[in-house]
Amino acid sequence: MTTTVHAIPTIDIAPLLTGDAAARADIARQLGEAAQTYGFMKLVGHGVPEAVIADTFSAAQDFFGQSEEAKAPYQERKTNRGFQPMFDNAKPGQKPSGQEAFSMGHPIPPEDPALLSLPFYAATPWPADVPLFRERLETCYHEMFKVGERVLEAFAVHLGAPHDFFANVSRNTYSNMRVVHYPPQEAVQHIADEGVRAHEDQGLITLLIQDMNGGLEVLGPEKDWLPVVPDERAIVLNVAKLLTRWTNGRLKSALHRVINRSGRERYSIPLFVHPNYHQVIDARDFAAGEPVRFDPIVAGDQVYKNFAGERKSWAALTS
Ligand SMILES: [Fe+2]
Repeated sequence: MTTTVHAIPTIDIAPLLTGDAAARADIARQLGEAAQTYGFMKLVGHGVPEAVIADTFSAAQDFFGQSEEAKAPYQERKTNRGFQPMFDNAKPGQKPSGQEAFSMGHPIPPEDPALLSLPFYAATPWPADVPLFRERLETCYHEMFKVGERVLEAFAVHLGAPHDFFANVSRNTYSNMRVVHYPPQEAVQHIADEGVRAHEDQGLITLLIQDMNGGLEVLGPEKDWLPVVPDERAIVLNVAKLLTRWTNGRLKSALHRVINRSGRERYSIPLFVHPNYHQVIDARDFAAGEPVRFDPIVAGDQVYKNFAGERKSWAALTS
């Protein structure tokens, strides 16, 4: 009897930058197959400098290491930007997550005043008294965002679309990045069962830098929880719900969760790549002759609606 051992694949994407068309097409195929099977993969050869990653972890430790009084002024409830305290992100009727976070918006704001008035484009309340915090996070953001653009190009090729099919989505994007701190599970279990309960991400793709403590798990094709084993060279990539919808279900977003069983403080840096607010997500673009499974929606409206259903703070904005 043979047993298939499922593990999240690792893909070297360096040829996306330096390779010829055939090499790029091969990487696109690998990324596409991983996205269709697991919805999750680890990327090496991504080009984000080690020092940028180390500096961002260090900035996160500097910020979260402060007292609650020092962090509190940087919580912006109306827009969900800035500091998000421990246990503050409960869905109605559920236990909260055992994490604290800092959320930044896309560093290049849109010029359109109508877009600027939407919470997704709100300014980030940067802490002035943590040296280099903003600089380090913005540098990391730009580096990771470039990886995201390359991955979307590769997905376009895999899906049989022109390589620049997704190029427009980055103009006026409402992408955002967080730095997240998960204390050891034992320290939060009186209130929280998990660091993050099982969920799918809302955008197109998510890129994640995680430290070496582990704790991220994804629901695999056999419906078992697979660990996303840390690799200090790797950025984790997962497909999120907008891209699943856009590709008529061809690329799969997968349920994932975090439980920090390491006994140590865990830090992670997710970048949520979203299109511009008004981008129409139309499954007919990629249905390739298959029955169309999803009605077209406007990206920002849909994501806003989903957040409002999940988080008290977003719901308060819309009521
Ligand atoms: Fe997630």
